[in-house]
Amino acid sequence: MVHFHLNPSLWAVLLAFTSLQPCSADKRVDLIVRPDGGNVSSPIMYGLMHEDINNSGDGGIYAELIRNRAFQSGDESRYPVTLDGWSAVNGAKLSLKKLSQPLSAALPYSMNVAVPSSSNKTVGFANAGYWGMDVKVQKYTGSFYVKGAYQGKSFTASLQSALTGEVFGTTKVPVQKAGNDWVKYDFNLVPEKAAPNSNNTFAITFDAAGVRGGSLDFNLISLFPPTYKNRPNGLRVDIMEALAALKPKFLRFPGGNMLEGNTLPTWWKWNETIGDLKNRPGRAGVWGYPLSAGLGLVEYMQWCEDLNLEPILAVWSGLALDGGELPESRIDEAVQSALDELEFLTGDASTHWGGIRASILGHTRPWKIRYVEIGNEDWLGGGSTGFENYKKYRFPAFFKAFQEKYPEIQLIASPSVFDGMTIPKPAGGDYHPYLTPDNMVSSFNKFDSLTRDNLTLIGEAASTHPNGGIGWSGNLMPFPWWGGSVGEAIFLLGLERNGDKVIGATYAPGLRNLNRWQWAMTQIQHAADPALTTLSTSYYVWKLLGTTAITKTLPVTATTGGIGPLYYVAGETERGSSVFKAAVYNSTEPVAVSVQFAGLGEKVKQPHKKTATATLTVLTGPTNPYEYNDPWKHNNVVKETKTKLNAKEGGIFSFTLPQLSVAVLETDGE
Ligand SMILES: *[C@@H]1O[C@H](CO)[C@@H](O)[C@H](O)[C@H]1NC(C)=O
Ligand SMILES: *[C@@H]1O[C@H](CO)[C@@H](O)[C@H](O)[C@H]1NC(C)=O
Ligand SMILES: *[C@@H]1O[C@H](CO)[C@@H](O)[C@H](O)[C@H]1NC(C)=O
Ligand SMILES: *[C@@H]1O[C@H](CO)[C@@H](O)[C@H](O)[C@H]1NC(C)=O
Ligand SMILES: *[C@@H]1O[C@H](CO)[C@@H](O)[C@H](O)[C@H]1NC(C)=O
Ligand SMILES: *[C@@H]1O[C@H](CO)[C@@H](O)[C@H](O)[C@H]1NC(C)=O
Ligand SMILES: *[C@@H]1O[C@H](CO)[C@@H](O)[C@H](O)[C@H]1NC(C)=O
Repeated sequence: MVHFHLNPSLWAVLLAFTSLQPCSADKRVDLIVRPDGGNVSSPIMYGLMHEDINNSGDGGIYAELIRNRAFQSGDESRYPVTLDGWSAVNGAKLSLKKLSQPLSAALPYSMNVAVPSSSNKTVGFANAGYWGMDVKVQKYTGSFYVKGAYQGKSFTASLQSALTGEVFGTTKVPVQKAGNDWVKYDFNLVPEKAAPNSNNTFAITFDAAGVRGGSLDFNLISLFPPTYKNRPNGLRVDIMEALAALKPKFLRFPGGNMLEGNTLPTWWKWNETIGDLKNRPGRAGVWGYPLSAGLGLVEYMQWCEDLNLEPILAVWSGLALDGGELPESRIDEAVQSALDELEFLTGDASTHWGGIRASILGHTRPWKIRYVEIGNEDWLGGGSTGFENYKKYRFPAFFKAFQEKYPEIQLIASPSVFDGMTIPKPAGGDYHPYLTPDNMVSSFNKFDSLTRDNLTLIGEAASTHPNGGIGWSGNLMPFPWWGGSVGEAIFLLGLERNGDKVIGATYAPGLRNLNRWQWAMTQIQHAADPALTTLSTSYYVWKLLGTTAITKTLPVTATTGGIGPLYYVAGETERGSSVFKAAVYNSTEPVAVSVQFAGLGEKVKQPHKKTATATLTVLTGPTNPYEYNDPWKHNNVVKETKTKLNAKEGGIFSFTLPQLSVAVLETDGE
């Protein structure tokens, strides 16, 4: 072995040579970022969107563990009421009953548990949860309602294995009174032992001798693990933590198609999602299952509070997915419902709906609503007349009412300027690109031609199909994949360049239940087992760009090279740092980049400030751009590297970015 003895400065030259100008990189881009002359961006550039699509609400972020807890339907012609999820324990006979004295008008059905005269000592029923339940040594909070004569001393609530029957935790719930009225029982349950997997059930059993030959009726059987910020009726901790790490700024809810409903009578009636759970009838969901409405309007607002999000409240615009529409003579019904909803959220306690919020829900302080979207994809849903009528009388009716009553609210029409709607000022539009990565990349300039009067929300976006893929049922990828995620990054850089024309952008759908899904694309996938709560390639890209959101753009000029295959934007963040954000797509070789922050160059000249530093974060992926994060493999194909860079004279930072990479260079504080 031969040891070369190089002097340190020669090493530095060699290192600089390899990192700045690798032999293979003859692509160069030299850029100057000016400190002034940019535009102020939307304060809510990156956010979230949610609707209950295939159990991302019930069985997803809504932490309720019991499936079909109150035998709801919302539309019995579509979803017959069933005992789905329930099974008998020790020979009890379970049946659905529509009693003459139901628990509430909203919950007409209940489960009758009959005890045969020759049964075991204890009997009852169990629930399988949403494809299992996570059992840990932690406090579970439960409740149920019972009606009927029971001579026993207590009910027993327990969590147990569905595979072996092993009981992990159990608690006795003492009987208060038995009789012909519904009685509510609340209990806590702390298992002594964690379950080895999520194949578990929750059971309620009781003393058969106490009812022998008779029966008891049960309803609204509920069990929650600890929730995010310990909210009663709250949200799942692991999913909320993953969302919080994206540092989002807004939440668009409750949809999506969810808002519209399948038929005219089954739209998302906000007034039926509030208050005591026993007064929520539930809804006919539009993704193949009925909904509990446990994740209702107030829970969405609390989600916003807990993650410090600006609500983008979508209100129903009088259209159903089957094409049903309110005629012009009845559109005021939908407008009135929206105005009532606004009063419920933002009115003080002296108003009718504000009073209901304050007195029934104890939320005396009104919420703030700054953004309201009228409908969802009205250019697409509703058959041939849907869009025409949206333009003709549906949107105008809302526009007029809101201009009069809530002129300070930013209204958003559900189509965008790209969908063929001229949107009246000062309303914005909503654009939903579900594209191939190539089309994401070629949309980089799409917003350049717009003006600030064409304000647009990107209320849903994702790379869905690989290049060349077509059609909703075409060759969708099984999960977000690296090449698709880089395509999204470039689209987002294009938006950030035009941050003064954009209301905000969100991936959709952000959550996916691994047991039941319609859309393969997601940021976070989950199941009953929290170990399966995993992050897609797109999550990492949106997180990097979202946590460095530009609040003011800075002009960039190229002295060598230009846009493509390096796509970029520069600006300031809310932290006061300067950022340069870039991604490489379709490059046959790495791209050598130099970025001069001209403002920093000035500062560096000052005697007290000798060197300026910046942190370069680069996301790279696998060689095969179709690779993805597979929750069952627990792999992460996205690699993140962070490097501290020193500026050369004039505030110049130099680095090389490989094909299919996403990078953010952020200047460090003083
Ligand atoms: C008693 O319980 C056992 C175990 O769950 C079950 O196999 C059996 O069928 C029950 N007996 C009756 C009479 O239901
Ligand atoms: C039970 O667990 C096994 C693996 O431990 C899994 O394959 C199966 O799907 C689980 N079943 C349910 C109902 O969760
Ligand atoms: C998701 O919901 C759709 C209904 O929109 C249904 O057709 C599909 O089977 C569901 N997906 C799964 C995996 O259950
Ligand atoms: C909720 O409001 C709608 C009209 O906006 C109305 O049709 C419905 O009856 C209301 N629900 C209840 C339970 O009052
Ligand atoms: C990327 O390269 C492929 C193959 O040359 C080409 O078909 C495609 O249009 C390119 N996409 C973009 C966005 O440049
Ligand atoms: C953008 O807004 C301007 C001013 O309101 C309008 O004239 C123009 O048609 C809008 N552009 C598009 C593409 O709709
Ligand atoms: C600021 O907006 C103006 C007008 O739309 C535009 O010409 C200019 O390029 C923008 N500057 C930056 C740095 O984005």
